[in-house]
This record gives sequence, C-alpha cells and structure tokens, in this order.
Amino acid sequence: MSVELKIEAARAALALVKNGMRLGIGTGSTADEFVRLLAVEVKNGLEIFGVPTSIKTQILCEELGVPLTTLEELPELDLVIDGADEVDGKFQLIKGGGGALLREKIVAHASKAMAVIADETKLVDTLGEYPLPIEVNKFGLTATYNAIRVVSDRLDLSGEINLRGGKDTPFETDGGHFILDASFSHIPDASALSKALLDIPGVVEHGLFLGYAKVVFLASPDGVKQLGEL
Ligand code: A5P
Repeated sequence: MSVELKIEAARAALALVKNGMRLGIGTGSTADEFVRLLAVEVKNGLEIFGVPTSIKTQILCEELGVPLTTLEELPELDLVIDGADEVDGKFQLIKGGGGALLREKIVAHASKAMAVIADETKLVDTLGEYPLPIEVNKFGLTATYNAIRVVSDRLDLSGEINLRGGKDTPFETDGGHFILDASFSHIPDASALSKALLDIPGVVEHGLFLGYAKVVFLASPDGVKQLGEL
C-alpha cells in the first residue's frame, strides 16, 4: 500500500473528527498518517481529546503536539479511527499486525463508533489470508499453544501457528504478553473462532474485531470509497 493511499484514506476519515471529540487514535502505518494530518488540524485550532491505542502512537502524538488523555480519564469515547490488516464485506476485521490489538480492542469497545482506514487490497471475501494475531500470556505458553491447536482442529482450521519474533527474541506487546500468529488462510466462521479462543485461559485477546467497524474508508488509485456510515 503506497503512502499516498494511506494518506488519502486517513484524510477521508479526518472529516469525521469534530471539535471537542473524544477520539481513539489507532496504531500502524496508516494510523500514523492520520496522526500527521490530525496534528495539522490541531495546530489550526481543532480541539480533541485523544486516547492512543499503543505506546508507539502515544509517542508520535506527543512529538506532533496532538493532545492526549487516557482511557482512565475518559472511559467513553465518541470515535476511534484505526487501520486494519483485513476487512470483509460484513466489516469484520483482522487487526494486530503491529501488535497493538489488545489496546486497540479495548479502545474500540469503549468507543461509540469505529472508522477503519485502509487501502482496497485489505478488502477480502473471507478473513484469514493474513495470519491472525493471538495475544497470549507468557505463563503456560506451550499449554496455550496446544489449546489453540485443539480449538482450530475442532473448527477445521489448519496452518502454522508461530510465536512472533521467534523463541529467542519473542515480540512483547505493550501489555507484556506474547503473540502467536495463526496462518489459517480461511476463517469461514470468525464468530465461532472468536468465542473458542476466548474460552482458553491463556489467550488474552485475538485480532478478530467483530461488530466494531461502522464505516470503512478504502483507498485506491481511483479515489477513496466509503463503505457504511456513522
Ligand atoms: C496494529 O496492531 C494493527 O492492528 C494495525 O492497525 C494494522 O496492522 C494495520 O496496519 P497498517 O496500517 O500499517 O497496514
């Protein structure tokens, strides 16, 4: 996805941001472009109360002068604008390619609405081509891995499940957990998989975002297409 398309998707979503809004701010390269555009508006007088979905986004907002607060201060938000790794026709998403899925989902859940910014290549018929990130507790990693295997076998899902970063240098999330990336290729029943994964005690959260996105801005060389509305 070219930077230009990321900027165009971000620009389209910026039009949803109104003065005084309590705004969740996403994570990833497309969300970064949104932060850059938002910072310009803030310099021009726009007032928002931003809640970042990761330490990385927090740092970028601080550098660019986007005013931040915390979810503790503002536990209810008007809107969150975030990227996605995949989106299907029902606005179901895979997120977490950048490892921020837990905070992203907490913020999305606390928001009245979610707008997704992406390019058209992220639109898929069926989720799963992009490896599903599953955030897991460090304790009992192998037991949790095995339990995920049992669940995926039961749901007829196959494919590699890899510890992000590898055994020697595992990736650690902002919450201090690990991520298992599950290459299922095809997830026909995202809802069933979501429920089954959340039944495993070692699973902290997963990257299936179901029922959150209300509007999707998909950028292509022909322009930005808006799917859905607030
Ligand atoms: C971060 O954890 C992710 O959920 C991102 O929102 C997602 O990976 C999209 O990132 P890009 O905008 O960089 O493609």
